[in-house]
Amino acid sequence: MTLPTTRLMQVFDLRHPVLSAPMAFAGGGALAAAVSRAGGLGLIGGGYGDPAWLEEQFALADGERVGVGFITWSLRKSPALLTDVLRHRPVAVMLSFGDPRPFVDEIRAAGARVICQCQDMGHVMDAVEVRADVIVAQGAEAGGHGASRGTMSFVPEVADHLSRHAPETLLLAAGGIADGRGLAAALMLGADGVLMGTRLWAAREALVQPGHHGAILETDGDGTVRTTIADIARQIPWPRGFTARIRRNAFTERWHGREAALQTAVATEAPRYRQAFAAGDPEQTGVWFGEAAGLIHAIEPAADIVTRVSSEAVRCLERATGGRS
Ligand SMILES: Cc1cc2nc3c(=O)[nH]c(=O)nc-3n(C[C@H](O)[C@H](O)[C@H](O)COP(=O)(O)O)c2cc1C
Repeated sequence: MTLPTTRLMQVFDLRHPVLSAPMAFAGGGALAAAVSRAGGLGLIGGGYGDPAWLEEQFALADGERVGVGFITWSLRKSPALLTDVLRHRPVAVMLSFGDPRPFVDEIRAAGARVICQCQDMGHVMDAVEVRADVIVAQGAEAGGHGASRGTMSFVPEVADHLSRHAPETLLLAAGGIADGRGLAAALMLGADGVLMGTRLWAAREALVQPGHHGAILETDGDGTVRTTIADIARQIPWPRGFTARIRRNAFTERWHGREAALQTAVATEAPRYRQAFAAGDPEQTGVWFGEAAGLIHAIEPAADIVTRVSSEAVRCLERATGGRS
């Protein structure tokens, strides 16, 4: 048995229904290209939009078919960045955390697909209104920024909504998916594939300091927390309603629940956070991963991760249908 060819695989010409999340700072061109080469689709993490960094990462993708993702509220401050990036002819542009309306026409005109990552049904309705090609239903288990819905009920609710209102729109599940069980479950919940962040953050090609990679191997799924303190420390003004899931460590012990005090101390804490992050200190800064940490036991090449997740999912589906494993 092989995985059923999902609509996602047909539309994007993939061997595996797996996209890598466009992770700010961590998801560079090498990771995206490795995922695409392995038969998934890699997305470069455009994040808050550093034009020189993006140029460098597209160069590192070395002509491989990749996409890119942006933090939408931040892109609004420098929309020219989208125009620049579209010159690289990304396969898709993912918009997350904000109103997609100002950008979709330009993305489409450049021949790229529009992916909207959604955290609640209000976001899903906005994405349907702009006729997104792909909707990512992101549950709160996710690493990095997100909101409060759980993947398990959010994905099938979005699937039901799409089957009634936008049946041509593809659906990806995100949040807590790190192995073949997660992929098989996502397909059963009505998704056409998955978007994985944390599992691919723990790939060799990810732009992650060794100290942070080491930390994920020692952390189980209880060892993360959704919080605003990393954004306060970085002085990045995230809109209300979004929090970031990071590792529980000395930094979160000290400041989570003491947000006003952190704000007061930010002049000294901001440089301390940034230095510790750059050094890969696992304790004194934000270490960005999600609950899937408890399913990750090695830092591996992205291609091994993508192909294994897909073949494990085949075995899970065989077992579920009474076939041989
Ligand atoms: C280190 C890290 C950085 C992230 N940065 C972004 C980002 O810049 N833009 C975005 O849309 N999503 C970002 N995300 C969230 C992912 O898009 C995705 O929803 C999430 O990783 C899926 O859950 P998982 O981490 O359990 O796989 C990030 C996630 C991680 C782990």
